[in-house]
Amino acid sequence: MSTQHNGEAGHKRDPLLFNKIAGGVLSAGLVLWIGVHIADFLTASKAPPKPVVAAASTAPAAAAAIPSINGLILKADVKKGAAFVQQQCSACHSVNQGGANGVGPNLYGVMGAPMFAHAGYHFSSAVEKVAKGNWGYQKMNAWLLDPQTFASGTRMGYPGIKNDVQRADVIAYLRTLSANPIALPSATAAVASAAPAPAVAAGDGAPSIKALYASAVITKGQSFFEQQCSACHSINKGGAAGVGPNLYGVLQGPMFAHPGYDFSSAAKKIASGNWTPHAMNQWLYDPMKDAPGTRMGYPGIKNNQVRADVIAYLNAQSDAPAALK
Ligand code: HEC
Ligand code: HEC
Repeated sequence: MSTQHNGEAGHKRDPLLFNKIAGGVLSAGLVLWIGVHIADFLTASKAPPKPVVAAASTAPAAAAAIPSINGLILKADVKKGAAFVQQQCSACHSVNQGGANGVGPNLYGVMGAPMFAHAGYHFSSAVEKVAKGNWGYQKMNAWLLDPQTFASGTRMGYPGIKNDVQRADVIAYLRTLSANPIALPSATAAVASAAPAPAVAAGDGAPSIKALYASAVITKGQSFFEQQCSACHSINKGGAAGVGPNLYGVLQGPMFAHPGYDFSSAAKKIASGNWTPHAMNQWLYDPMKDAPGTRMGYPGIKNNQVRADVIAYLNAQSDAPAALK
């Protein structure tokens, strides 16, 4: 990606190629899935009364409130969850850190991450409609019970995990796919009501992070950047443009004006003067709200400290880093 000199061409070529690959993998996944489940369908048709009752009682429950399985998650068998994911999900999802997106997005770090926002993956509008906040236990429980009920029209062609114990095992396993797993359910409830609420209450603009620059850690910003931004941006001095422009010296430099990169008119419309830490804070919080129609296909960094870390890192990649305030 970093060898592409023209962002436009890269932008047009890649999706086509991806569609072809995705089409192939999807057919393969579908065939696999049908193969795995054909026995279930056959069993179902042989014994009609039981499945019909089960289906009827599952649907309204899903539409209303799905019973919590937090108790089961606390005593889940992570190894069984891993085996289940390997068997039923891996045709469409990789789970390793930095793993490629397939038919579905890579799932490393998904618990606690923003919903349906994995970098570099193009989600359906069906799921974007229901994406609110981060993946917690209750939402993941509902999604994996029945993806189509959770997000009608989702492209996840998987019927859901109807067995509560298996679903708990899978969620407990997903939780471990992280260098910093989120707290187990009981502890999370308290955290959830304490931390993210103020950020949401701040309204459309990004919360001020001036106070956080003093405690910003450049190396943390760097590893976040490498994980979430480097697929589209190089940041070495004189580095090539990829899907997005090279970012060396971007802070304090003119907005959306990197030589040799063809910015969208959406971005040019909001370009005024140079990138200040304040403007960068707004942009990285929610690029699509900051510049509606921007081609930066990234949902933004909602965590204030992480945003401060990333801005401190951007600031350091420059001939003349400025004082952040
Ligand atoms: C046939 C392919 C397929 C299978 C099998 C599949 N998924 Fe998915 N999954 C997808 C697709 C496609 C999406 C994106 C949904 C959309 O954009 O509508 C997705 C999305 C997800 C997401 C949301 C990720 C995010 O970044 O927010 C999670 C979590 C997930 N799948 C978990 C699983 C688990 C666990 C299994 C196995 C029990 C599974 N999936 C089986 C295709 C699949
Ligand atoms: C999926 C690709 C993609 C990802 C991921 C991505 N960007 Fe971008 N970025 C772009 C594109 C494309 C543009 C140009 C926007 C336009 O023209 O609308 C851009 C523009 C920018 C700009 C403005 C550059 C300038 O010269 O004014 C900054 C700053 C930026 N991105 C930072 C980041 C950071 C930091 C991350 C990670 C947290 C990130 N981007 C993730 C594609 C991406």
